[in-house]
Amino acid sequence: MATMESLIGLVNRIQRACTVLGDHGGDHGALPTLWEALPSVVVVGGQSSGKSSVLESIVGRDFLPRGSGIVTRRPLVLQLQKTESGLQEYAEFLHLPKKRFTDFSMVRNEIQDETDRLTGKSKQISPVPIHLSIYSPNVVNLTLIDLPGLTKVAVEGQPESIVRDIEIMVRSYVEKPNCIILAITPANQDIATSDSIKLAREVDPSGERTFGVLTKLDLMDKGTNAIDVLEGRSYRLQHPWVGIVNRSQADINKNVDMIFARRKEREFFATSPDYGHLAGKMGSEYLAKLLSKHLESVIRARIPDITSLINKTIDELEAELNHLGRPVAADAGAQLYTILELCRAFDRIFKEHLEGGRPGGAR
Ligand code: GDP
Ligand code: NA
Ligand code: MG
Repeated sequence: MATMESLIGLVNRIQRACTVLGDHGGDHGALPTLWEALPSVVVVGGQSSGKSSVLESIVGRDFLPRGSGIVTRRPLVLQLQKTESGLQEYAEFLHLPKKRFTDFSMVRNEIQDETDRLTGKSKQISPVPIHLSIYSPNVVNLTLIDLPGLTKVAVEGQPESIVRDIEIMVRSYVEKPNCIILAITPANQDIATSDSIKLAREVDPSGERTFGVLTKLDLMDKGTNAIDVLEGRSYRLQHPWVGIVNRSQADINKNVDMIFARRKEREFFATSPDYGHLAGKMGSEYLAKLLSKHLESVIRARIPDITSLINKTIDELEAELNHLGRPVAADAGAQLYTILELCRAFDRIFKEHLEGGRPGGAR
């Protein structure tokens, strides 16, 4: 288990190092393919369906801009990196490499400022992602991507093309086979009108990489419930549906914190006459566990591919670095050297894992 965790941790670090190189590894041989082989989780849904709220809950930290209207206006690529217990949590942006954020409300401000830097204080969007890493003993190794919501009409201050632009942007993420889709639908809307399910069905017809998430269960009309959806009778997916109760806008305005919100969510399910029997399989914490278990099994299944790509990368980088001579400056060469070291570490741990797991093995 510890080995699996360290392998996933290394995979994450290689992914991040490739990102620093730009364009997910640029024109460096096997690197872009390596990046694509690594799974990431993308949150998809209509505007204000609760995407950013769900992401925050998974991380267990308040740091994302949320609210009604178009709030998320650039993709946010969020890398969670598990650190040793006892170490302080911090966040770091790719565009501010030397700055460690320990105050997560400052992270939210920086996301807002960095969004405005490309789009102005407008309702416009940009496809250029913001990269954020969170280092914490309390997270699972995971790459999560928050995206602007799918919409139907352009509002005041938006170009007519925005509806299509957002869809193209979302599609470019979810059509990749390495993408795990968190398809968000608010429970106070009919499942038949769900944009996220429609898109997920198109790009993942078998449903093997789609997780259906039903938010706003607390906002359903009296006398109605979402049991048919949650038990898979309305729309069947391979993975079970998970129901969620995020913070309301009133909670956000009152600064209700994550711990309190999670307790309220647990109570909602535990005491609900409709959902009580499903309580153990509902809520943000359960969703986070479900995702990390799935991710682990995906990576486990891909390890042979990832290992051979990593070996190919090692060969290519060694050749390229020999050609350059060992670079020391903090430039692309140094970055390649970092990736090479990470790949070697992966290969080493992987081999130890094999030897350790084999009866009568080399030790
Ligand atoms: P996004 O646009 O899809 O990222 O949605 P946000 O996470 O920004 O949430 C939009 C609004 O819906 C915010 O005001 C949230 O407080 C509210 N919201 C999201 N999920 C829930 C929920 O489960 N219950 C309630 N009552 N409000 C929610
Ligand atoms: Na919103
Ligand atoms: Mg959002």
